[in-house]
Amino acid sequence: CGIIGYVGSEKISNSVLIAGLHALEYRGYDSAGLALAQNDQVTIIKAKGNVSFLEEKLEKMNTKGTTLGIAHTRWATHGEPNETNSHPHQSGLVTLVHNGIIENYNTIKEELENAGYDFYSQTDSEIAAAYIDYCYFLTKDKVSALTKAYQHFKGSFAFAIIFQDELDVIYAMRKNSPLVLGVGEHQNFLASDISAFLKYTNQYIVLEHEEIAVLHKNQITIQNLNGDLLDKEIQTSEMDITDIQKGGYEHFMLKEIHEEPDVVKKTIDSLMQNNLLDLLNTMPNLKQYDQIHIIACGSAMYAGMIAKSLIESRARIHVDCICASEYRYANPIYTGNTLAIFISQSGETADTIAALQLAKANDVATLAIVNVIGSTIARDADHVIYTKAGPEICVATTKAYCTQVAVLSLLACYLSYVHGHMQDDEVMQLSKEIKTLPKLMQQLIEKDYSAFAKKIYQHNDVFFIGRGLDYSLSMEGSLKLKEISYIHSEAYAAGELKHGTISLIEEGTPVIALASDEDLYEKTISNIKEVKARGAYVLLIISDDLQIAHDGYDDILRIPKTDKLIQAILGVIPLQLLAYEIARLRGCEIDQPRNLAKSVTVE
Ligand code: G6P
Repeated sequence: CGIIGYVGSEKISNSVLIAGLHALEYRGYDSAGLALAQNDQVTIIKAKGNVSFLEEKLEKMNTKGTTLGIAHTRWATHGEPNETNSHPHQSGLVTLVHNGIIENYNTIKEELENAGYDFYSQTDSEIAAAYIDYCYFLTKDKVSALTKAYQHFKGSFAFAIIFQDELDVIYAMRKNSPLVLGVGEHQNFLASDISAFLKYTNQYIVLEHEEIAVLHKNQITIQNLNGDLLDKEIQTSEMDITDIQKGGYEHFMLKEIHEEPDVVKKTIDSLMQNNLLDLLNTMPNLKQYDQIHIIACGSAMYAGMIAKSLIESRARIHVDCICASEYRYANPIYTGNTLAIFISQSGETADTIAALQLAKANDVATLAIVNVIGSTIARDADHVIYTKAGPEICVATTKAYCTQVAVLSLLACYLSYVHGHMQDDEVMQLSKEIKTLPKLMQQLIEKDYSAFAKKIYQHNDVFFIGRGLDYSLSMEGSLKLKEISYIHSEAYAAGELKHGTISLIEEGTPVIALASDEDLYEKTISNIKEVKARGAYVLLIISDDLQIAHDGYDDILRIPKTDKLIQAILGVIPLQLLAYEIARLRGCEIDQPRNLAKSVTVE
């Protein structure tokens, strides 16, 4: 979910909130709503569906802008996405918008029902509003009421709150869900991330856990739960407004794929100016670890699987790659020398944060590979390496994944070198190859994938197969396809398909086979023959140096040959563009696939 709030001297709430919600839509778009305050009146407007429905409704109702407003775009957790369950929620004197989950909402609800409160929605957020109202009734002081509620709420939350008896002030507090405050002239903002108010100000304050912010148009005060006033640093964002605009592309996804050569170059340059030996200075010292856990969710986890292959095969260190939602409850086994690596674009994924907290509680060294500067995971880990993807708007990740793979490939090089598995001449040769990557990526982006997409887009099932690194890449390719095109797809280790799943292959079933590894490709070709014999249409993606007979595929797509350590950065591009073209042919909402959110800040 995403939150935006505005308090200022001009009556521009509507344009600030709608623009902010559009910028935050990547966080969820099941429904949206806003509360506008003026004099002693609060007007609430909500709409099911994405922000444009709310925008239309606001225009139709001819609602005037005000000097204060809070708004929310929702990714449903409690209760279906309808208007009743949309935010803002109101109870008594309190109106609020909420991100996160109040885990003990049931016991709080009982307490409040006994005190005479009624509830209309199925959300934990309405219960939170009532509880804050109840605390205000008891304490007669807003900050005391919020402190009391803060201490009572279990789970995660970010709140923007207004009180009926003080409609020129926004209150805010957070725990495990991000909230930043935008500092303007005669106007202040708050939002789940800076992009939501960047049009108005690039000055911001990060609100931390156990802090309560009070926003007036000319002043922001922040205090801790003991009531001490805090002197917080105002930071300047380097984000550029053009980073969050489509820039002439039909979709953000396409724009972001086109940015890949540039952001991968920026990421590599930040770690290696001349050659791979620079990594000895730019990487944290990681030589002492003999076991690595890689923990992440979604595509970030698939980037982690690539790292597992590379680090194990080249640096000879044992690596486990586990999704964060499992890891956090798995009671993981640590040796005395375990390094836990957390990969996250947003740096705010709830499961990944919990897994990081678990590793820290076990005194395990932690390294974060994160895109969003200053995000929770970046701040909480012992070491951080930033990917330089810039803001990524399309819900399905592309460029951030590429930069994650770039960092992890360099990490594998670094570990291979410090463990004596890579000699100086290889370092120099590989350094040169790495520098050519952006050019090779560009060539792949410029290829036309539409002919392949046309052969696939009407099918209901697609299979991806590959071995080793290609298998890890297949999983990302398959995820991309299902996320944005809603075609059911599965990725299989090429040799595994015959142990059951091959029964699903029928005449014409598309199989996308990846075979970029010269040591394994002949084995994959044998598996291709097995599916072709059962009628599959096979699109083969293969390095341009490998020979292959015509009966080994129906269509072929060549990718430039590079060292295996960097091959995956190229291999993913055709998969991303293929998924994009297929989703386009199917008329899907590419940048905002149904049911998904980019930043999942709930468990
Ligand atoms: C969501 C997104 C995925 C993403 C995953 C992890 O599910 O839809 O695209 O890979 O979260 O996000 P993170 O920000 O931690 O990389």
